Amino acid sequence: MNIDEELLNFIFDSFEECIVVVDENGIVTMMSNGYKEFLGCINPEGKHVTEVIPNTKLHIVAKTGLKEFGEIQEVNNHRIISIRVPIVLDGKLKGAIGKIMFKDLNNFKILSSKITNLEKELQYYKNELDSEKKAKYTFNSLMGKSIKFQEVVNFAQRAAKGDSSILITGESGTGKELLAQAIHNGSKRALKPFVKVNCAAIPAELFESEMFGYEEGAFTGAKKSGLKGKFEIANGGTILLDEIGDMPLSMQVKLLRVLQEREIMRVGGNEVININVRVIAATNKSLQELIEQEKFREDLYYRLNVIHLKLPSLRERAEDIELLADSLRVKLCNKYGIYSEGVSKEALEYLKNYDWPGNIRQLENVIERSINLLDTELLILPKHLPDKIVETKGKKHNIDNSDLKEAVDEMEKEIIVSILEKTKGNKNQTAKILGISRAGLYKKIKRLGLE
Ligand SMILES: Nc1ncnc2c1ncn2[C@@H]1O[C@H](COP(=O)(O)OP(=O)(O)OP(=O)(O)O)[C@@H](O)[C@H]1O
Ligand SMILES: [Mg+2]
Repeated sequence: MNIDEELLNFIFDSFEECIVVVDENGIVTMMSNGYKEFLGCINPEGKHVTEVIPNTKLHIVAKTGLKEFGEIQEVNNHRIISIRVPIVLDGKLKGAIGKIMFKDLNNFKILSSKITNLEKELQYYKNELDSEKKAKYTFNSLMGKSIKFQEVVNFAQRAAKGDSSILITGESGTGKELLAQAIHNGSKRALKPFVKVNCAAIPAELFESEMFGYEEGAFTGAKKSGLKGKFEIANGGTILLDEIGDMPLSMQVKLLRVLQEREIMRVGGNEVININVRVIAATNKSLQELIEQEKFREDLYYRLNVIHLKLPSLRERAEDIELLADSLRVKLCNKYGIYSEGVSKEALEYLKNYDWPGNIRQLENVIERSINLLDTELLILPKHLPDKIVETKGKKHNIDNSDLKEAVDEMEKEIIVSILEKTKGNKNQTAKILGISRAGLYKKIKRLGLE
């Protein structure tokens, strides 16, 4: 053995490396002491590698020159993972080196569980940064100057300073979530988490573990390390219980307990965890009606409804439509990189006359659609609006430029059509609702050209 080999062996042994070298014929030329011990083989040098290491492929790598990594191999009742690298000197294949990466997959398992834990930790920090736990909107993001809207905002701004539970109601798309985020950001909890829970989306059987967390092995399929529930994650901050009207009754009892005791216990755990969370609940349903139908607990309602913020529908704040349409246009044009200069007067007229069942969300969708339809135009025109919005213009009967009879006919037509729609075309019922005879209704239908 020359000095290089001696030095090499010293290096390998110092790190207890298991390394073997073969020549181009697969004959062992060198093996570290660690490997010899591992194999229980004293003099491997000069032997073909297959005689020394069962299931090896090192002689193949020495022939193909192709590196191999990560295959599991069975050696002396150990499941090992090795790496095999060809030795190429001066462009010629001279043999191959094998090295055991993991002498026993059990060690590998320890390592892999370490990696898994690190990944979990990483996920945890990622989650911490997750937008779900952050509220991005502030009171400045809330557009609207109408008195009705400003009243709610002012009240909300004062409420934000305190810790009382808040119930936000309002039709779909009126900005309940936006307001909840603004309240959190306007409160002393702003730097703590904001956690939103969609009560309608969590399956009943997972509700408890989602909300309160669980301990290791609490149920089959539970994560080994246990998991924090939403309340624990939100600790110090705000929890938004969205769609609270859809929370199952059985869960309402448990929620009520948390609100009363201000403490939780993880599923399968026995440690009491104190909870300091501001609760904001939101719904577009009438909780009072749900209480009457015995679908919502009255005691829970009173706990949540300490401060009630009722967002007006867009219909009730029609004077905000112009401002909203324009600020949504600017926001969306920036988002999509579209250039536009405004909403035309005529288009705005249509927007103002529409009744917006989907409120601001619907307005946002209409504006988004319109700016995508802009061709060479720089203004949003009536032709960019959906048919159903353009159709409703007649609603605010403008009789300045039509005679009275025409206006009355128009109105009559509209009323009859809307009742016919409601009764699904049933003329008997329609006539009854309108308080006229069947024959009378037929006459009108004919005269107004409604056939
Ligand atoms: N005052 C406002 N100014 C600007 N944009 C608003 C305003 N209110 C709501 N929006 C926008 O309208 C959309 C709907 O708002 P949000 O999701 O808060 O409504 P919601 O009341 O929670 O609706 P849902 O009942 O359907 O959950 C969002 O895209 C939001 O950005
Ligand atoms: Mg919402």
